[in-house]
Amino acid sequence: MKKTILVLGGAGYIGSNTAYLLNQRGYEIIIIDKLIYKQKFDHDFAKLIVGDFADTNLLESVFEKYKIDAVMHFAAFIEVGVSVTNPAEFYDNNVVKTIKFLDTMIKHGVKNFIFSSSCAVYGNPVKVPIDEAHPYAPISPYGKNKLIVEYVLQDYAQAYDLKYISLRYFNAAGADPKNNLGEQHIPETHIIPLLLRAIKNKKTFKIFGDDYNTPDGTCIRDYIHVKDLALAHLLAFEYLIKEKKSQVFNLGTGHGYSVKELITAAEKEAGQEANIEVFARRAGDVDTLIADNKKIKSILNWEPSYSNLENIIHSALEWENR
Ligand SMILES: NC(=O)c1ccc[n+]([C@@H]2O[C@H](COP(=O)([O-])OP(=O)(O)OC[C@H]3O[C@@H](n4cnc5c(N)ncnc54)[C@H](O)[C@@H]3O)[C@@H](O)[C@H]2O)c1
Repeated sequence: MKKTILVLGGAGYIGSNTAYLLNQRGYEIIIIDKLIYKQKFDHDFAKLIVGDFADTNLLESVFEKYKIDAVMHFAAFIEVGVSVTNPAEFYDNNVVKTIKFLDTMIKHGVKNFIFSSSCAVYGNPVKVPIDEAHPYAPISPYGKNKLIVEYVLQDYAQAYDLKYISLRYFNAAGADPKNNLGEQHIPETHIIPLLLRAIKNKKTFKIFGDDYNTPDGTCIRDYIHVKDLALAHLLAFEYLIKEKKSQVFNLGTGHGYSVKELITAAEKEAGQEANIEVFARRAGDVDTLIADNKKIKSILNWEPSYSNLENIIHSALEWENR
């Protein structure tokens, strides 16, 4: 019998790309998503149930109707800045609701859980590349949300025989325009879509700080193509089913690009120059965030194959121009 995976937030950017791949690999997919961006989801690779992932009545009916083999939890509020000004909403959606969901899931005997965590759990790195043993020092409520859920998962694993994998993503990027899958955040805060839109609309693109301790002075981040992220979820699920062992993995390419390198690549791809203006640094931005990904490579045999910069920008531009 086909295994069934419940994907919370599967109508979002990373969740939809992952759900697509899982379905391609022969799994049955059920999505719960409340479409917070009023985004369109007209795909046939999953059954979409529109609703809140902590709605107990809804969950009861889902767990009674379907035999769920694992849950992947992508549903969250993601804007770091808003988490600072409105932490209550973030703690409610990202922490309280997750605990409520876990309780219902465990009550129904579902024991496999894959969680979308973030490199934000590390805060300002004291060492780069960042491995999983790096100290935790989240600087935003968003990062704290992710870390709290990880602690909850540790305790639940011990007490309730839950098996989980927490994937600490670095910067998700790129799209799969051929399958109509990409980011639809409102407002968009991610640098690549913002840069591509600025070039296309001949608007100014703001660089926040060019005096960082990096070769060209701009911040360096580890951009991972969303299709490589999706593959890591597939491998994580198969590992959980086979090995029945909880794990925490960093999920990045191990290579960083600066803001100026992104701009050069985007200008080349768009065939047009960007209008750049340099502003002061933003609070909370750090020089460099790069993953040490040895652990996920050795345990899950994960290898990124889409994450070169050209590929990321090319697919993101195609998605923007759709
Ligand atoms: N995008 C990144 O670079 C990045 C980096 C690190 C971690 N993450 C994490 O990965 C996950 C997915 O990120 P994304 O970029 O795909 O985000 P996204 O906003 O595109 O997708 C999240 C989805 O969750 C849904 N959702 C939110 N709250 C819900 C609720 N209470 N009930 C039902 N549905 C709800 C939204 O409607 C949305 O479709 C998030 O948990 C995010 O924190 C993302």
